[in-house]
Formats: sequence, C-alpha cells, structure tokens
Amino acid sequence: MTYPFHTSPFPRHKRRTVAADIVNYRLARYCVNKIKNKIKEQHGACPAATVWVLYGIMPNHTRSEKKTNEKGKSPKESVVETRYLLMPHQANPQGTAFGGVIVAWIDMAAAMAAQKHCGKEVVTAGIDSLVFKEPIRVGDHVLLKASINYVGRSSMEVGVQVTRENPYGGDKVIATTAHLTFVALDENKRPTAVPPVLPETKQEKKRYENAKLRVKARKELLEKMS
Ligand SMILES: CC(C)(COP(=O)(O)OP(=O)(O)OC[C@H]1O[C@@H](n2cnc3c(N)ncnc32)[C@H](O)[C@@H]1OP(=O)(O)O)[C@@H](O)C(=O)NCCC(=O)NCCS
Repeated sequence: MTYPFHTSPFPRHKRRTVAADIVNYRLARYCVNKIKNKIKEQHGACPAATVWVLYGIMPNHTRSEKKTNEKGKSPKESVVETRYLLMPHQANPQGTAFGGVIVAWIDMAAAMAAQKHCGKEVVTAGIDSLVFKEPIRVGDHVLLKASINYVGRSSMEVGVQVTRENPYGGDKVIATTAHLTFVALDENKRPTAVPPVLPETKQEKKRYENAKLRVKARKELLEKMS
C-alpha cells in the first residue's frame, strides 16, 4: 500500500524505513511466488514442505505474529445492523437503487463488523458473490446485516444481507447478498493476525463451513492467476 507523502501516517524520519520494509516484503513475496510457480511447472505441484521453507526465508520483520493468543469471538459479538432510506439521488433512471450506492453501504457495514471482530484497522481485499436479487425502490427502507463468516490468519470473510422493507406495509424481501474479504493491518500497515471466530448456532456453523470452501477456492484461483 503506498501513501502520497503529504498523507503518510508515518513520521517523516520513519518513512524511508517503512518504504524499504514494504519493498523488501513485496520483492520477497514476488520471488517466492516465482519459485513456487517454476516448481509447479516442472513437477506439476509444489509440495507443502517446500512452501513452508520458501515462506520461512521471507524477511522476519515483515511477518507479524502467526496467530493471536486470543480465544476468539462468536459472530454475534461483531454483528452490525443498520438501516437507510433510499432517496431519489441514490436511484438510477428506472427509479430503483443505483447498484454502487448499495455496494458502498455493504462495504461500510461489513468493514464495521470486521473492525469489531479484530479491534484493528481493516481494508477491503475483495468483494465477491455480489447478487442483486430484487430491486429496491425510492422510499423503501434498506436494512443491512453484516456478520463474520470465517477467519483466516489476517483475513476475515464477512457476509452481508440487504433486505428491502416497505415502510407502510412492512413486508420484507432479501434484495442483495454479498461476501467480502477484509484484511487486518498492524501499525506498519501490514497484514496482521486476527482472533479466531467461534460459530455457535447451527446456522453460524453452516456459514463458517461454506465460507471455508469459498476462501479455499479464492486462494486457489488467485494462485493460478499469479
Ligand atoms: C489486502 C492487502 C492488505 C493484502 O496484502 P498482501 O501483501 O497481498 O498480503 P498477503 O499476501 O500476506 O495476504 C494477506 C491476507 O489477505 C488475503 N488476500 C490477499 N488478497 C486477497 C484477495 N484479492 N481476496 C481475498 N483475500 C485476499 C490472503 O489470502 C491473506 O489471508 P490470510 O492471512 O487469512 O491467509 C493489499 O492487497 C492491499 O492493501 N490492498 C488494497 C486494499 C484497499 O485499498 N482496499 C480498498 C479500500 S479499503
């Protein structure tokens, strides 16, 4: 992540060190990925033991703690629920919600859930499985519920459900769903470990298992494309 100097969060005397750390880390990661891909090309796969050794040689100062000692939190502890009223300036020419507005609300609610879970600064790494199932009309109430589905080392998958509510009749329809990945950052703006998530209810456990499959698929896809 790069910052223009006038907005840098680091004091002037530390900027050079921080920039060098980031460059070293990115360079090391680039080399590790190149070696991994070369081994894959020649042998069809890269053994897990080799991956461990490769990551082991990454610069130490760029690798924050592997796991936290924290016991973990249930998804309930970080749920975020919020409500908006869809106004005319947030609609498209058809009089229904402009998708970008809904995505911004989703991102905001999900980021707050991720912050509550890890108690750290977070950034959005990706948004996927975004589905607009039903239109939302001007004047509708828009209810958002964001909760943590799954946690990796530094990343958290947050599920968001957007419900359209008729303010007069009160009937509710699920309008949009999305899954977002957030990464927790340490004081040097590098990915850092987050507390585990402890699903309790049957539904939370199912969401956890489904998210685990998505995270695995995402990582495989990113690796294949690198
Ligand atoms: C997200 C970001 C911090 C990841 O940094 P990185 O140097 O690639 O970090 P790593 O490779 O160590 O990956 C860190 C974690 O992010 C996950 N990750 C990285 N890219 C991802 C992606 N595109 N989708 C989902 N997860 C991703 C990794 O799987 C890893 O998860 P884990 O620690 O739970 O195993 C970096 O890419 C970034 O700063 N992106 C810009 C974020 C941003 O500006 N967002 C919009 C405004 S908030």
